[in-house]
Parts: sequence; structure tokens; C-alpha cells
Amino acid sequence: MAAENEASQESALGAYSPVDYMSITSFPRLPEDEPAPAAPLRGRKDEDAFLGDPDTDPDSFLKSARLQRLPSSSSEMGSQDGSPLRETRKDPFSAAAAECSCRQDGLTVIVTACLTFATGVTVALVMQIYFGDPQIFQQGAVVTDAARCTSLGIEVLSKQGSSVDAAVAAALCLGIVAPHSSGLGGGGVMLVHDIRRNESHLIDFRESAPGALREETLQRSWETKPGLLVGVPGMVKGLHEAHQLYGRLPWSQVLAFAAAVAQDGFNVTHDLARALAEQLPPNMSERFRETFLPSGRPPLPGSLLHRPDLAEVLDVLGTSGPAAFYAGGNLTLEMVAEAQHAGGVITEEDFSNYSALVEKPVCGVYRGHLVLSPPPPHTGPALISALNILEGFNLTSLVSREQALHWVAETLKIALALASRLGDPVYDSTITESMDDMLSKVEAAYLRGHINDSQAAPAPLLPVYELDGAPTAAQVLIMGPDDFIVAMVSSLNQPFGSGLITPSGILLNSQMLDFSWPNRTANHSAPSLENSVQPGKRPLSFLLPTVVRPAEGLCGTYLALGANGAARGLSGLTQVLLNVLTLNRNLSDSLARGRLHPDLQSNLLQVDSEFTEEEIEFLEARGHHVEKVDVLSWVHGSRRTNNFIIAVKDPRSPDAAGATIL
Ligand SMILES: *[C@@H]1O[C@H](CO)[C@@H](O)[C@H](O)[C@H]1NC(C)=O
Ligand SMILES: *[C@@H]1O[C@H](CO)[C@@H](O)[C@H](O)[C@H]1NC(C)=O
Ligand SMILES: *[C@@H]1O[C@H](CO)[C@@H](O)[C@H](O)[C@H]1NC(C)=O
Ligand SMILES: *[C@@H]1O[C@H](CO)[C@@H](O)[C@H](O)[C@H]1NC(C)=O
Ligand SMILES: *[C@@H]1O[C@H](CO)[C@@H](O)[C@H](O)[C@H]1NC(C)=O
Ligand SMILES: *[C@@H]1O[C@H](CO)[C@@H](O)[C@H](O)[C@H]1NC(C)=O
Ligand SMILES: *[C@@H]1O[C@H](CO)[C@@H](O)[C@H](O)[C@H]1NC(C)=O
Ligand SMILES: *[C@@H]1O[C@H](CO)[C@@H](O)[C@H](O)[C@H]1NC(C)=O
Ligand SMILES: *[C@@H]1O[C@H](CO)[C@@H](O)[C@H](O)[C@H]1NC(C)=O
Ligand SMILES: *[C@@H]1O[C@H](CO)[C@@H](O)[C@H](O)[C@H]1NC(C)=O
Repeated sequence: MAAENEASQESALGAYSPVDYMSITSFPRLPEDEPAPAAPLRGRKDEDAFLGDPDTDPDSFLKSARLQRLPSSSSEMGSQDGSPLRETRKDPFSAAAAECSCRQDGLTVIVTACLTFATGVTVALVMQIYFGDPQIFQQGAVVTDAARCTSLGIEVLSKQGSSVDAAVAAALCLGIVAPHSSGLGGGGVMLVHDIRRNESHLIDFRESAPGALREETLQRSWETKPGLLVGVPGMVKGLHEAHQLYGRLPWSQVLAFAAAVAQDGFNVTHDLARALAEQLPPNMSERFRETFLPSGRPPLPGSLLHRPDLAEVLDVLGTSGPAAFYAGGNLTLEMVAEAQHAGGVITEEDFSNYSALVEKPVCGVYRGHLVLSPPPPHTGPALISALNILEGFNLTSLVSREQALHWVAETLKIALALASRLGDPVYDSTITESMDDMLSKVEAAYLRGHINDSQAAPAPLLPVYELDGAPTAAQVLIMGPDDFIVAMVSSLNQPFGSGLITPSGILLNSQMLDFSWPNRTANHSAPSLENSVQPGKRPLSFLLPTVVRPAEGLCGTYLALGANGAARGLSGLTQVLLNVLTLNRNLSDSLARGRLHPDLQSNLLQVDSEFTEEEIEFLEARGHHVEKVDVLSWVHGSRRTNNFIIAVKDPRSPDAAGATIL
């Protein structure tokens, strides 16, 4: 208990001081390490039979029961949260969910009631993509932006990989299958939560500015010299760090899973086909064309694409580790040469100096739920601030949707303005103060007081600095049988990053665009000093892998969420959290609902295509200038309520898929 208090104090005080690696005790293992039965594929059509079918094999009963064990420190019995009942009411597990309770003694099988259905459980896998509806599952769930990578994540879990092993493989897979949104030449952030220990680590592998990059240079030449936009890629170091901390399978094996996808080929997704048709980088090189437009035109969705070049890179990284990427070998030299040839200033030393950071996430308690999100330069504090403000509105399902939308819109205007003041705290100590304000409930109450219940503020309530982020990002969300939750969002910034591709097939990011500099946008919004370019600095980020757990005890709702869409993603996450945690909607409904986003630069309230005319009229009557857009962001999610796990993709995404192992 004392240790726990200490830990929470530490995280409150030093919210993003790097964690001493040695303080992380040996990497987690399940108490039972013997192999589980292999996971045969089962389709939804089998599911009914399988649910009704009492399993007669006592071994499979025991195995599935064992994987449900959690240490228990209190008996909360879901008192914080009415939602589990709602989520599971419609399925045969609901009775079990309702009666789940945690016990006081160490490692206890969560609940007797749960076992009634566990007898029916064999190991199975169901993929949402093939059968439409999301599934309710038990032991593990994966959702990513591409079905191929989701099934790879499941495969790693079923071969006894840890949740982090699965996340590493799935993230590398997305770099192959969705090369326009993330990849080896980019960066990201991963949030890992250990349910049993109530311990979280945030691995930040965002790109940093090269040592020789200067604001004047960018201001003068960023539009003509794509090499200047390349930040030091963090992906390889970040994934390796995560694996060092939480991996169970050998690194080389994890990379081999992804290499096989590149080698064997994959079906071009709708989103990649669209990006290749509509979002090609300016001045594509010959190499880019050969790689992605082999027939001279954009490939059709479903056509087969091979990436033997990336398979080779992954093999090298698998055998030599991140040194092959950062320590001046051929891969490094190629990346440096490619960027410099396009006007860049990145050097080998920038690569060798790069390190991923292991930090604590920022956290807030929202209505009995602990919400964890990345610290600056990521905008997690603004997400928590939005929740803190909304908490005071006493939103319930009784409040009309229209009234709730008004409050959400006004709250997000404040939260986004706050986000525009964030930047890399290593370079500006005032950011820590801004962050503390954002996490404070008192401050939130003060800000809430400026919101008029019936009238939209005509102008932003707080000053807004330039707030421009890359909309493309890749998501991996995993809840594994090891009782870990992994949420990860990675990015190359623009589609295909800078468009620069090395002879080995690595696309280089354009993440320096996430910095702010004078006269960058046509509207000349005030540049953010906190987010100005400095050597070694990391730019402001809307990559917000977010995890929720019960603030007390073990019973209740767990969530892993991610988003793309830059600032729109922050708005999206806020609304999904509200839907699940306050309005007690099930996860698929929560993700599908229409979402809004206040665009502060134009002072327009953007709403997506799910909004009805009545809702728009209501918002306009309150003084909002509404702009209807097709899609604002994709928010995928995974939810666990006691030992029921579900993975759901945002229905707006054509290629994403959630899958679960039973
Ligand atoms: C790399 O790190 C060293 C030691 O911290 C520092 O002196 C040097 O300036 C760094 N180089 C670059 C390019 O940032
Ligand atoms: C694209 O190529 C044209 C002509 O070759 C050149 O003037 C322009 O600067 C290039 N733009 C970029 C972004 O490289
Ligand atoms: C590509 O799609 C076809 C038909 O939908 C399918 O049979 C095949 O297995 C897919 N290939 C891969 C590598 O996923
Ligand atoms: C590295 O570069 C050298 C010299 O250009 C070349 O001989 C060698 O084959 C390269 N190695 C790899 C792994 O590409
Ligand atoms: C919300 O409820 C709390 C406690 O019931 C009350 O103190 C507070 O004033 C309410 N806030 C609003 C905005 O109604
Ligand atoms: C809210 O706005 C309405 C309409 O502009 C105004 O009449 C009312 O006084 C405002 N309420 C507060 C608390 O400022
Ligand atoms: C930015 O634009 C303004 C107005 O267009 C101009 O006066 C100013 O000199 C520009 N600043 C820089 C640093 O280029
Ligand atoms: C988990 O840890 C956080 C601080 O990191 C603390 O606020 C919370 O109460 C803890 N929850 C449980 C169930 O111990
Ligand atoms: C989620 O809730 C919606 C609306 O209440 C309902 O239509 C849907 O069937 C539910 N989905 C699941 C999987 O329970
Ligand atoms: C710039 O301002 C115009 C009109 O005020 C608006 O339509 C446009 O969306 C703004 N551009 C950006 C990038 O915010």
C-alpha cells in the first residue's frame, strides 16, 4: 500500500521525468507459462453453436479459467460504473458480468459466476472484419488500422507473445501495409498499462529535430526542400525499448512476423489505394514510383503488393537490433544521404544521439475512472482538462444530446486552446506549469465558469496559438491475456511523410511540420513559442494513445483508445470517453456516434456526417457556426469489463479490424 502511494506521488510530481529503467522489476510473466492450446480460426457462424455448446473438456475449462486470474486489492464490484451491465446485456455472458466481483486474497480466479461461461470457452478467434459486428471475447483483443495487422497481432498473442510483442509486430506490419501513415522512418508513442500492478509506462519515440535545424532555414525553404522536414526517426528505438521492457518472445522472432508480411505480400487496402490516387507527395522520385506505382498508376484495392525491400530491412534489424538503424551503418547512411540530397540537414550524429524516452503518463480521475494519456510534448493534459471541465456539467443520459453537444463544443474550444500552449518540456520549463494547471480540477472549475449553457462564445475564450497537426496516424490497441493494455499511435506526419524513400525502402517522415514557426500558415495565426524549432526538440503531438482503468480496485471498465486526425482526434477521444464512461453506451455505439470538433483558426464548429439536421439547427441556434464534414477522425478502441474483452474499430475506417481470442 505504502509503495502504491509512493508510486502515485511520484507520478503526480515527476509526471514526465524519465523513469529509471532499473526500477522496473523483471519483465512481467503470467504465473502460468505453459503453452495454451493453439488458436484455430473460428468464424461468427460457429459462434452461436460454440456459445450454446457446453464444453466437456475439463482441461480447456481450467486453462481458460487460469488466464482470468487477477490479483485483487479490493472488492469494488463495479460500483463506479453502471456500464458493464449495459454493454453485455445483449449477450449470453451478461449474467456472469453482473455477478463478477473481486476477492481480497492474492491471486484469485475472478469470479465463480464467470466460470459458468468459461466452461463453454475453447480458444477461438473471430474477426470483426469478416462478420461485421464486433464480438465479445474473453482473453485478448487487438484492433489496428488494417485487418492483416490485426490478425498478425492475434497470431503473436496466440504464440505466447506478450501484449507488447503483439503491438510491436502489428505496428511494424502497419508500416508495411499502410506505409502512408506510419513506418520505420517515423515515430510515435506507446502507452503500456499493467493491470495487475496498476503500473504504466509511456514510451515516447517521437522524432526529434536534427542538431543543425534552424527556424530561419525552415521558414525560408520548407516548401521547396522536403529533406528539411525529416526528423530523427524514433520508431525502431521505441519499439525495441518497449520490447526490452515487456517482450516475451525474442526480438528477432517478433520482427520476423512482420518481415513475413512484407515478403509474402499483402492486399492493398482501400485507404492506401486512395492515398496513392489522391495524396501522392509532390516531386515523387523514380524510386517512389517503382515501389508504389509499379504499373505506372495507383494500384486497385485488393491487388497484391510485395515489399521484399522492407522484409530485408526487418531481417537486418531483427538480427542486429536498432544499432543497424542508428549506428552509422548502411541504413543510417542511406537515410542521411536521402534527406540531405533533398535539402535536409540531418546527420549520422543525430541518429546516434537519438534515444526513446520512458516516462510516466499524465493521469486524471474522471468519475471514478483513471484516465492515462501521454505527457507533453503530447497533448494528453488537454484531454484530461477537457474531461475535468465536462465532469462538472453533471452530464447523464437524462441530459438532452443537444445540450451535451453544446457543452462538449465549448469545453473543447478551451481544451484545444490549452493544447496550443504545450510543447517539449525539456526546452521550456513553463510547460510543466501549464500542464499542472490543465490537470487541476480547481482550474477546470474556473474555466467551466466561463461557459454559457445556452450561448456559444463568439470568439475563443483563451488565446490560441498555431495548432496544426498531421491528420494521418496509425493505431494499435491490444489487451492481451497477460493482463496488459497497450495503446500505440505512430505517424509519418503527412501521407507518405516527406515522400523521400531510401534505396532500402524506408520512407522518411516530415514530422518537423508539427513545429510552429512565423508565417507558416496562410492565416498567420500566432506561432507558438513553446513549440518553436530547436535542435533536438520534439514537436507538439496529437498522438494520444489513452488507457482507462477503474480508479479504485480492479473491477469495472478498462479501455484502450487511439485516434488519428490530429486535433480532431483529441475531440474524438473526449467524446468517445464521454459516451462510454458517462452515458454508459456500449463501445461500438460510442465509436459510431457522430462527433464534432471546434476549429479554432476558422471559428467553425465541424460536425461529421452522422449529425442530423435537427442537431445542426440546435447548435446554430446556440450561436455555433456549423460546418458539416465527412469524417473528422478515426477512433478505435478495446474495452474490458472484468474479463470480458471486446475490440472495435471505428466504423468510418474501411480497412481497420478488431479481433479477439476466446
Ligand atoms: C549529440 O550528443 C552530444 C553529447 O550529448 C552533443 O554534444 C552533440 O551536440 C549532439 N549532436 C547533435 C547533432 O545533436
Ligand atoms: C519540384 O520540382 C520542381 C522542378 O523540378 C522544383 O522547382 C521544386 O522546387 C520541387 N519541389 C519540391 C517540393 O521539391
Ligand atoms: C487477398 O485477398 C484475397 C481475396 O479477398 C484473399 O484470398 C487473400 O488471402 C488475400 N491475401 C492476403 C495476403 O491477405
Ligand atoms: C553496405 O554498403 C556496402 C558498400 O556500399 C556494400 O558493399 C554492402 O553490401 C552494403 N551492405 C548492405 C547490408 O546493404
Ligand atoms: C453537479 O452536481 C454536484 C453534486 O451533485 C453539484 O455540487 C454541482 O453544483 C453540479 N454542477 C452543475 C453544473 O450543475
Ligand atoms: C448566456 O447567454 C445568454 C444569451 O446571450 C445571456 O442572456 C445570459 O445572460 C448568459 N448567461 C451567463 C451566465 O452569462
Ligand atoms: C510575416 O508576415 C507579416 C505580414 O505578412 C510580415 O510583416 C512579417 O515580416 C513576416 N514575418 C516573417 C518573420 O517573415
Ligand atoms: C493506480 O495508480 C494510480 C496512480 O498511478 C492511482 O491514482 C490509482 O488510485 C491506482 N488505482 C488502484 C486501483 O490502485
Ligand atoms: C450497442 O448499443 C446500441 C444502441 O444502444 C445497440 O443497437 C447495439 O446492438 C449494441 N451493440 C452491442 C454489441 O451490444
Ligand atoms: C483561414 O481563414 C479562413 C477564413 O477565416 C478559413 O476559411 C480557413 O479555414 C482558415 N485556414 C486555416 C488553415 O485555418
